[in-house]
Amino acid sequence: MVALLLLARTGHALPVGAGAGGEPLRAVAARAGVAIGAAARALLLETDPRYAPVLAGEFDSLTPEIEMKWPQTEPEPGRFVFGPADALVDFAEAHGMRVRGHTLLWADPVRIPDYVARTGDPEALRTLLRNHITAVAGRYRGRVEAWDVVNEPLDPIRGTGLRSNVFLEHLGPAYIGEAFRLAREVDPSAQLFLNEIGVLSGGPKFEALLDLVRDLLATGVPLDGVGLQGHIFAGLNTPSRERVEEVVRSFADLGLVVELTEIDVSVGPAVPDRLELQARIVGDLLGGCLAVEACRGITFWGFTDRHTWIDDFLGPGRAPLLFDAEYRPKPAVEAVRATLAARAVPEPGTGLALATGLAALAATRRRA
Ligand code: G3I
Repeated sequence: MVALLLLARTGHALPVGAGAGGEPLRAVAARAGVAIGAAARALLLETDPRYAPVLAGEFDSLTPEIEMKWPQTEPEPGRFVFGPADALVDFAEAHGMRVRGHTLLWADPVRIPDYVARTGDPEALRTLLRNHITAVAGRYRGRVEAWDVVNEPLDPIRGTGLRSNVFLEHLGPAYIGEAFRLAREVDPSAQLFLNEIGVLSGGPKFEALLDLVRDLLATGVPLDGVGLQGHIFAGLNTPSRERVEEVVRSFADLGLVVELTEIDVSVGPAVPDRLELQARIVGDLLGGCLAVEACRGITFWGFTDRHTWIDDFLGPGRAPLLFDAEYRPKPAVEAVRATLAARAVPEPGTGLALATGLAALAATRRRA
C-alpha cells in the first residue's frame, strides 16, 4: 500500500492511495493533464470514516452530488441553505481538489422546487432564476472552477427537442442562454458547461445536443464546455471507444472543452466476468475521451459501491463504481490508471512515461 501523505492546506494529513494499492489516480491524471473526479456527499464525510481518505487520496476534482442543486440550496424562495455545499467546497480546498459546481438549473420539472414549477408569470420566473444564480454562483465565486449551468435540457423520452418545463413554457428556449449569461455575469472566472445525459452512444439525442450547442454558440451564449454524463448499463448502452471519441471530437471541433462528468457502469450480478467487463467499458470511455486533446476532465458519479444512487434506482448489486463496498479497488481502477498513463506527457528528453503508459494500456486491453 502506498503510504504517501497528502498534506492539506489546513494541516490535516490524509493517506494518499489508501484504497487503491497503487499509484494514486490523481498523480497519474496530473501527468495526463486531466482532472480526475468523483461526485461526493457531504453527509458521508461525517458518517463514514473510510470515505474521505479515499476521496481525497485518489481524486483531484469533486462534484457535489446533490448539495448545490436548487431544492437543496433554496428550498423556499430567498431562503438559502449552504452548509452541506460549503462543507464539500472546504474539503476540496483543504485537499487540493478543484470543484465542479452541479448544477444551477436542472431543467427537469421534478428537480425544480414546487414554488418554481408553479410560477406562471414570465417576469416572476426570470426574477427567481436571477436571484438563484446570483446567490449560488455568487457564494462560490472564484472557488468553483466549472459550473454545470444547465443540466439535461433535452427531452429524455423523444431524445430530440427541449425538455418541457416551466421555463420553456413561459420564457421559451432562450431560458438556457439566459442562465448562462447570468452565470457569466456572477462568476466571470468559472468555466460554464452544459451537461447532458445519454449522448455518448451517438444517435438522435447526440445530434440534438450538437444542434443546441451550435445554436447557443451562434447566438453568443457564453458556453465553454460540454459535460457528457456516462451512466452506463452494461449490455444496454455501451458505447465503443471509437464512438466516444467521435462524440467528444464533435464538441471539441466547436472549440469547446469536454468532460465526462458522471460515469458509473452498472453490471448485473449474473453477468459473467462482470468486473473485467466493467474495467473494459471504463477503459473505453476514458480512452475515447482522452484521445481528444479538449477532453480535460473525467468524473465518476461516486467512487465506492457502498454509496451509489444506482442502489436506490435499480436496487443493490450492480456494483457500478471503482471501489467495492469495502473500499477495495476493483479491476476498473487499473483500467483508469492505464488509460490515464497512456496520455501522460513524457518527461522532457525521455519519452519513457508515454511508452510505459502505452504498454500498460495494451496490457489492460489484452487482459480484457
Ligand atoms: O438523504 C435523504 C434521506 O434522508 C431520505 O430518507 C431519502 C428518502 O427519499 O432521501 C434522501 O435524499 C435523496 C438523495 O438523493 C440522497 O440519497 C433524495 O431523495 C434523492 O432525490 C437524491 O437523488 C439524487 C438525484 O440526483 C436528485 O438530486 C441522487 O443521489 C444523485 O445521484 C442524482 O444525480 C443525478 C445528477 O444530478 C444528474 N444526472 C443524473 C444523476 C443520477 O440521477
